[in-house]
Amino acid sequence: MSVDGVDTVLVGTWAGLGELFAAERGRLDVLNTPLVHDLFGRALFNLTACGHGEARRRLRPALAGRALPGYVPSLLDVIGPATDRWALDGTADLHEQVRALTGAMSARVLLGITPGEADAARFAAAFKVFVAATGAPPGPARYADRRYWAGRSARQDLHALFSRRAAQATGDAPGGSALAGLVAAFADAPAEAGPLEDHLLALLIAARETTASLLTWCLVELASHRGHAEYAAAEARTVAAGPDRLVARDKLPVLRSVLAECLRLHAPNLLSMRETVCPLTLAGHRIGEGTRVAYSPSAGHFDPAAFPRPQQFRPGRFLARQASASRLWAFGGGAHACLGRPLAELMALAVMAAALQRGLPSLPDGPPARISFRPAKAPIDPLPFALESAS
Ligand code: HEM
Repeated sequence: MSVDGVDTVLVGTWAGLGELFAAERGRLDVLNTPLVHDLFGRALFNLTACGHGEARRRLRPALAGRALPGYVPSLLDVIGPATDRWALDGTADLHEQVRALTGAMSARVLLGITPGEADAARFAAAFKVFVAATGAPPGPARYADRRYWAGRSARQDLHALFSRRAAQATGDAPGGSALAGLVAAFADAPAEAGPLEDHLLALLIAARETTASLLTWCLVELASHRGHAEYAAAEARTVAAGPDRLVARDKLPVLRSVLAECLRLHAPNLLSMRETVCPLTLAGHRIGEGTRVAYSPSAGHFDPAAFPRPQQFRPGRFLARQASASRLWAFGGGAHACLGRPLAELMALAVMAAALQRGLPSLPDGPPARISFRPAKAPIDPLPFALESAS
């Protein structure tokens, strides 16, 4: 089929994804445009073969497992004031607010930047210009686009800021950040693993629209299903007394079931692109070298055999073990599976818990009528939102 005007093999079934991910290494490369290569340099998703594996190995420990409990207090510090405002005044646009909150959470955890400090505004301004550059034409026409050159310059500013923060990270910088761990992990990294500055920018970009999308849909679904929201709110209140429950996989089953159901119904990414570097066979079809291959992370999410009544929001299917979260590919799989999944899930659970502690989500104008799917699934129009006192 044609994707963005180019003939592409689309993998759109659950079984097909398993086959694709198993066959990926050495046969498929991530297809990134010249624009993405220029802007992101040797960031993780631009690397191939050994350099890619080496960089993943060095990045992963700071983004998962034992590192996560250390980020909980700093995340809650960032989330508290935002959710207080939603409870007090509501907001005229949920998605815009959640994007800003996701940016602040990522800056706090990945760079150690606290919301009030001078670097917060510097970072936000340069990052905005950089993000705008990703909308420039992907090919040679990018050179005639003002956004491209502004983005290149913002990239330099961001790299300088990252280097300065990295130099401070081992000193008296605020705790609760991944930065010191990342600096240590890359101190003796071979050149093929790429520079930490490129990886930091990639992490910040990869975290932003995806996590904001997931959070938006979690709050939209909770607002649209009052019974589920009340049920989840009871559990959210236990987080106030024990914030470490946010990182214990066997705790908060209700909030986790809402998360899983939202990942199923509203997988943030529409398509991921690959190109074959040698011929390969998928589902019995031979695919020639140099062919574009795309997969949809939500392939299989609406299969009624795996998820009965697939169009309905029914988080209970994950609680009652009628459905398994292992059938969900919202975070991709294989060689390029999402490295930020544990952090994304922690951020989403922490925001849902903080919001539900303050009130029940409500959408005064109703759910979004128009939706866009790129860069991630999101409402097109401003979406008024509030937290209503449960009483
Ligand atoms: C709900 C939130 C998120 C979703 C749904 C999501 C989804 C995905 C998907 C589908 C991929 C695979 C792309 C491909 O196959 O080409 C991916 C890759 C990636 N994600 Fe995420 N992501 C999320 C949050 C995050 C966060 C918070 C971070 C970082 C802190 C992150 C970092 C990355 C990186 C670095 C890659 C590239 C991995 C590689 O190329 O080896 N993501 N993500």
